Parts: sequence; C-alpha cells; structure tokens
Amino acid sequence: MIRFEHVYQNYNAGSFELTDINFEIEKGEFVFLIGPSGAGKTTILKMILRDMLPKEGSVYVENELISSAGFRDIEKLRQKIGTIFQDFKIVHDKNILENLILSLAILDRKDPKDEALAALKKVGLEKKALFFPVQLSAGELQRLTIARAMTGGRKIILADEPTGNLDPVTSWEIVRLFRHIHQGDTTVVFATHNTDIVNTLKKRVIVIKKGKIIKDSRQGIYTLDQI
Ligand SMILES: Nc1ncnc2c1ncn2[C@@H]1O[C@H](COP(=O)(O)OP(=O)(O)O)[C@@H](O)[C@H]1O
Ligand SMILES: [Mg+2]
Repeated sequence: MIRFEHVYQNYNAGSFELTDINFEIEKGEFVFLIGPSGAGKTTILKMILRDMLPKEGSVYVENELISSAGFRDIEKLRQKIGTIFQDFKIVHDKNILENLILSLAILDRKDPKDEALAALKKVGLEKKALFFPVQLSAGELQRLTIARAMTGGRKIILADEPTGNLDPVTSWEIVRLFRHIHQGDTTVVFATHNTDIVNTLKKRVIVIKKGKIIKDSRQGIYTLDQI
C-alpha cells in the first residue's frame, strides 16, 4: 500500500538527513511513526503526499511509483489521502459544515452534505455544524479535521501529531476516533510523541532516530529512553 525503498532526504545543507529508509505498510494497517522532534516524521508524511520528493530512492502508493519526476496523477493521489496535520487548512469564513462540503467538492461524491453531516455526528460535532471555526476549541478543531479525513472514501489517513497540543482527556477522545476510522480497510499512519497512546493501542511502531529507522515492531511498546 505504502512502500519506501532506499529513501534518502536531506536539507539545511546536510544538517538533516534521512538515510536509507525502507518500510512497507499494508492496506488496512495502523502504524505509529515515532521519533524525537526533528527526526523526520513530517518529512516522511510529506513524501507520501508527494509534497516533497526524496533525494534518492522510491516511494510507492498502491504499487504506483509516486516519486518519479514524471508522475502525473498528483491530484488523484491526494484524493485518496485524508490528512490530519497541525496546520489545519480550514477555511475561516465558512462554517463547519461548509468546510466539510468544500473538501468533498472535487471528489464527485454522491451526497456530500449527508456525508459531511454523518461525519460530524461521528466526531460529536453535529450540534456545531453551523458554527464557524473561530468558535471551536482546539480539540473540536482537531475533530473537524478528523471528520474531514473520514469523508471522501479515503484509503489512507496521515496524521501528524494529532494530539500534539491537546489535554490528555481530549487526546483520548481523538484516539477513540482513530480506532473508529481504522475499522474499515483504511490505512493509518500516525506520527506522535505520546508514549501512552502508542503503548495502549499496541499497533505497529516505526521508530526514527538520527535519520534512520532504528526499530520496526509489530506490537509496539516503547519508552522515551528508546528515542
Ligand atoms: N522544507 C524544509 N526546509 C528545510 N528544512 C526543513 C524543512 N522541513 C523540515 N526541515 C527540517 O528537517 C528536520 C526534520 O523535520 P521534520 O520532518 O519536520 O521532523 P519531525 O516531524 O520528526 O519533527 C528538522 O530539522 C526541520 O527543521
Ligand atoms: Mg513533525
């Protein structure tokens, strides 16, 4: 589903690099991407989105080489992927429901409004459908981005520290929603620092440190001293 083969990346004149990154994520897998700040987690997610090309090596999504210079289906690739990133990409002069419908507009969905309302219900925001983003708390905004990723029939969800600036209770709510997202055959890649979440969910964990994968284990348990 997602495959990195001998991927190298660097910037800042060599002060940061990812070296020989190899992994394969199967369809329907849930994978935590762990590592200290600056390890390269966001960089890996961006290469899956083809927001950035590797300096060397290959990135495949659904067996398609997306990292080739000639790859043309960028829009199609991104339509398959729901993103939960910290820069929320929310349109502030549209209400919550309109935001969701807007994100479905290019996808040719049967009934975007019903789909948007159903997603808002799943994340517990149905009563705030007509609110504007500025009227939501950080946790509610994060739930909105999750609702957006849940709609549109996405095959892959990329989450970049989705509990990063939330209190513990709200973080667990978010995790509960991820379990829900993951019930279908959606593939989830979840970058985080949160040891409690990783150790409770017991999913596959890929640990990156100093530009390398130092661990890739099926039933992830990890402690902060590992990273
Ligand atoms: N577009 C960019 N240009 C230059 N340096 C970058 C860019 N994006 C990230 N970096 C740097 O690359 C390193 C890895 O970043 P990142 O992938 O964001 O790590 P993480 O998400 O694990 O914290 C950091 O040192 C960061 O400052
Ligand atoms: Mg990051």
